[in-house]
Amino acid sequence: MNLESVLFSQGFGSRRQCRAMIADGRVSIDGATFNDADTDVDTKALVFEVDGTAWPYHERAYVLLNKPAGYECSRDPQHHLSVFNLLPAQFATRGIQCVGRLDQDTTGLLLLSDDGQFVHAYTSPKRKVPKLYVATTRHPLDDAQLAALREGVLLHGEPKPIAAVAAIARSAHELELTVLEGKYHQVKRMVAAAGNRVEALHRERVGGLALPAALAEGAWQWLDEADLGALRSG
Ligand code: URA
Repeated sequence: MNLESVLFSQGFGSRRQCRAMIADGRVSIDGATFNDADTDVDTKALVFEVDGTAWPYHERAYVLLNKPAGYECSRDPQHHLSVFNLLPAQFATRGIQCVGRLDQDTTGLLLLSDDGQFVHAYTSPKRKVPKLYVATTRHPLDDAQLAALREGVLLHGEPKPIAAVAAIARSAHELELTVLEGKYHQVKRMVAAAGNRVEALHRERVGGLALPAALAEGAWQWLDEADLGALRSG
């Protein structure tokens, strides 16, 4: 692939902008600067630098963000900042999208990708991917609430009750809830229907993929093949 196409595919701007960056000597590989946009490069395991910052080539971007509260999963947020403010601009340029949405006040594991099939597959209601949330509840949890969540609660506008795959009290006010669907405000509505209220919500796991403990709030990382395998295996 030529160097211009490498930069363009990775979200560094229009083809014209990418050519200009290369001509201006801003792009290097292994310490060598390349001024010719037509230079052929091997993209396998390629790491190039733009203005001295390393960027690993990824044919498709699969990214995990530890979402903080106060960010909307939208490119065009209404009342808060966008999660895209936490990511390099290259990602928005190459068209990555959130894989499902978390509410602005929900924290934790958010996936993003520019692979349309992947985004579609993981947001489709047909693909029942378990999502594990930890909800801090206003009132103490009791057995009747946990039983209602496991047996199914009827949400407004839904034709039939929705049951959690698992509902476990980690402590008096800490509920671990695993659900297969991704309906609007689903966890908050389920907990409300069971007679309690969510004060804070955090997503810890999607499929077999857990939020890495070492990833700080607001930080992101690429997903590798092992992560994608874990995601599928859940
Ligand atoms: N359920 C909710 O209520 N909110 C979220 O952000 C995710 C699941």
